[in-house]
Amino acid sequence: MRKLCYIPVVAIWIAIFSVVGGVDRNNFKTCDQSSFCRRYRAMKKGESPYQLLLNTLKEGESDLQVSLINIKNVVHFNLKLTALENFDFRLEIDEAQPIKQRYRVDYALKGEPATRKLVVTERTSESITVTNGHNKAVLHASPFKIDLYNGKTLMMSLNAQGLLKFEHYRQKTEKPAVPEGEEAVEPPAPVDEAEADIGAWEENYKSHHDAKPHGPSAVGLDFSFPNADYAYGIPEHADSLALKATTATDPYRLYNLDVFEYELNNGMALYGSIPFLIAHGVEATAGVLWLNAAETWVDIEGGAHKGSNVVSSIVNFVSGSGTPPPPLEARFVSESGMIDAFLFLGPNPETVSKNYAEISGVTPLPPLFSLGYHQCRWNYNDEDDVKSVDAGFDQHDIPYDVIWLDIEYTEGKKYFTWDKIKFPHADDMMKNLSLKGHHMVVIIDPHIKREGGYYVHEDATSNGLYVKNKDGNDYEGWCWPGSSSYLDFFNPVVRDYYASKYSLDNFWGTTLDTHIWNDMNEPSVFNGPEVTMPKDCVHYGGWEHRDVHNLYGLTHIMSTFDGLLKRSQGKLRPFILTRSVFIGSQRYAAVWTGDNMAEWEHLQASIPMCLSISLAGMPFCGADIGGFFKNPDSELFYRWYQIGAFLPFMRAHSHIDTKRREPWAYDPETTSLVRSAVRRRYEYLPLWYTLFRHHEVDGLPIMRPIWYNYPKDKSAFTIEDEFMLGKELLVHPVTKSGLTEVSVYFPGEKDLWYDIDELELFSGHGTKTVQTPKEKIPVYQRGGTIIPKKMRIRRSSALAKDDPYTLQIALNADGLASGSLYLDDGETYEYQKGQYVSLVYHYDGTTMVSQLVDKEASFASKSWLERIIVMGVRKAPGRIVLKSQSVGEQEIEFAFNPNKHLLVIRKPAVPIAEEWKLFFH
Ligand SMILES: *[C@@H]1O[C@H](CO)[C@@H](O)[C@H](O)[C@H]1NC(C)=O
Repeated sequence: MRKLCYIPVVAIWIAIFSVVGGVDRNNFKTCDQSSFCRRYRAMKKGESPYQLLLNTLKEGESDLQVSLINIKNVVHFNLKLTALENFDFRLEIDEAQPIKQRYRVDYALKGEPATRKLVVTERTSESITVTNGHNKAVLHASPFKIDLYNGKTLMMSLNAQGLLKFEHYRQKTEKPAVPEGEEAVEPPAPVDEAEADIGAWEENYKSHHDAKPHGPSAVGLDFSFPNADYAYGIPEHADSLALKATTATDPYRLYNLDVFEYELNNGMALYGSIPFLIAHGVEATAGVLWLNAAETWVDIEGGAHKGSNVVSSIVNFVSGSGTPPPPLEARFVSESGMIDAFLFLGPNPETVSKNYAEISGVTPLPPLFSLGYHQCRWNYNDEDDVKSVDAGFDQHDIPYDVIWLDIEYTEGKKYFTWDKIKFPHADDMMKNLSLKGHHMVVIIDPHIKREGGYYVHEDATSNGLYVKNKDGNDYEGWCWPGSSSYLDFFNPVVRDYYASKYSLDNFWGTTLDTHIWNDMNEPSVFNGPEVTMPKDCVHYGGWEHRDVHNLYGLTHIMSTFDGLLKRSQGKLRPFILTRSVFIGSQRYAAVWTGDNMAEWEHLQASIPMCLSISLAGMPFCGADIGGFFKNPDSELFYRWYQIGAFLPFMRAHSHIDTKRREPWAYDPETTSLVRSAVRRRYEYLPLWYTLFRHHEVDGLPIMRPIWYNYPKDKSAFTIEDEFMLGKELLVHPVTKSGLTEVSVYFPGEKDLWYDIDELELFSGHGTKTVQTPKEKIPVYQRGGTIIPKKMRIRRSSALAKDDPYTLQIALNADGLASGSLYLDDGETYEYQKGQYVSLVYHYDGTTMVSQLVDKEASFASKSWLERIIVMGVRKAPGRIVLKSQSVGEQEIEFAFNPNKHLLVIRKPAVPIAEEWKLFFH
């Protein structure tokens, strides 16, 4: 939620916001304007000065340590290779004798990673070979290189390009003073090229000065993937799903920034940074987690990647050379910190995701309401406005779960306060919403207004809770409230203090049905360098902002999560939306793609953006429906709802200067199209909830690229206009204006795909044209699956709690299907103590069974099964008999449509949480 500001403030402000109609690139550094990126990019391949001193090898229980030396400047490093529990490896390189400790990333990982025994299997004068189960690492001494194998397959090589570089901390060598009268002599050439760069010891960017008291300290390493075609992940960028080669452009940048009106199709930094990359090919999938929270740039080249540089492919074409393309390479460079990389050796997408989730955590099962529809705007002005929007949903018969309040609800942008003129009865308003099963989300940003008498500011000032500037004083910047300071969430005392502000006693107007939106947490500083905090600011523990920048938002939401948890004595699941993310943010919050625009290209971009975020471990992703800036026409508006209904997080949001656009703000036809899309969301809510539970258990993404489920299908590697939800649904939304048809790719040699509107078989493998009248959302159920649904439409998910279920079955080519349903109370943690129902269903044409996965678990659901729909049935059964404990043995009614091959079993009327069996005679 970056907003145009109407408060006249400092000149710099005008400089930032004066550009109309697009990002002001001048506000953001290019690689060439960033000293360390420039230095590292100037390196030549194959000149690595690093060697392992193999005689220093020390073997531990689960790791080995060995000295690494830079032979050019004779600086020593410690290299540590650890065997992880899931047969992957962790590589750490740090200085052997640092004059200053280097930052080790905290908070991002789920905990201390579990390890296994590392076995040294071979030592020669040139190399060491170690194994971790079926995986193997070979460390070559000179030139230094590590090859990593899964079985016999080489999955990745480190420093194969020779681009390892580790700038040790050093004392600044002062220029000798020149005695008066004598001529100045040229200072001696620096011993290390790090020193030669003009920005090594201090750096200017526009009007900002970075003092860099610790000098050059960057680290970088290259990774090669000989069996991969494409790299994916490393969000957040408004770019293609398959990363592009960066040979002719800047590298992808990871530096959490509040980018006003961001541009599409490039690797500029955005709000979040998750340095996790997946390299994928037909034969192998591998992953790298680069655990570093400093500004990071990632170069991609080789493999099947296409860059903006078409010259090389033209040359290849002209020369007709049949030589294989060079291997896919990814090179990470960070401004400070150490080299700490987790190396996931696959061999397929699911093992990579699963093992990455073991390290960084999963999104815990969200409260059910948060999977419903969210209505947001900057701003719903006052209580009457909230009341009338709420009434509008009733009038137009559109379900919704949450209404949101942006910054204007506060008193003068002082968080944890209310504007008492606009919201005098906030508590009543909240209770009224709750009565209809609705929730509210209010915004809380991390900047604090510097105003005497504002208790948070007074507490923070007197207790030293703010981030400090380089001189040790409270850092001051500009944000929504004007002059602001920033809480230092790296300090546990600050996190506890802030968490306590969320208690119902401390935050008047809120109830247990109020949840939180943490925005502006990159952090956004309007007058700071690149609209963020100066890198020489100092955090708790003495760490520079430079070291921890990309972690700031994570520490913010950690504190909020803790506060919401404590607010209910640990009983209720919090819902938080965050804009800034890092590795591990998925454990606390949902994310959205920030301030997009009401343009078709932005609608299109929401798919690859959320797919990249999902691949990087954050499943709960969405994009502002309608586009944040500008006014969508009615076609863009309803098409956006249609895609929004099938993204994990479904929220409409808009800028304060846009026209009002509640679902009924256009003509009746548009309202009706929006209504159908929102209802579709609610119909499939049991599937969404089940998918989120699966994610919590297995760590796999919910929204997936096609190739993820079909890893050997090369033609799917660059598809980014369609995606899958779990393995059940294929979604190909309409993302262009005026389209009367779209071309849908149906993967899977043997798979069958059923149209969820027509309830009949639509296609087998291949590409097929689909007619797309206004109401059409091309969504297909994969044959072989069973999907749970709820068909009755209520005002909110809470009011549908006891409603009956429908099972929608799509048969595969062998006439089989299976699926699952998970349910619990939808809001508490009781499910972790066994208060839930998890069922699997199997259908084989002669029987269908419902079986409890965990017989110890139970949940008293009042819901029952009202309908079973079976698509792809060849022949009508004679009789269908149901057997269950509560119902006994009963013949049940059904209808068969021979043209559609559709069997509808009416009213099995068995409790949903029960085991049962159907017999088809
Ligand atoms: C809450 O609902 C009651 C009953 O409809 C109404 O009188 C009151 O004005 C509502 N309060 C707010 C703040 O909307």
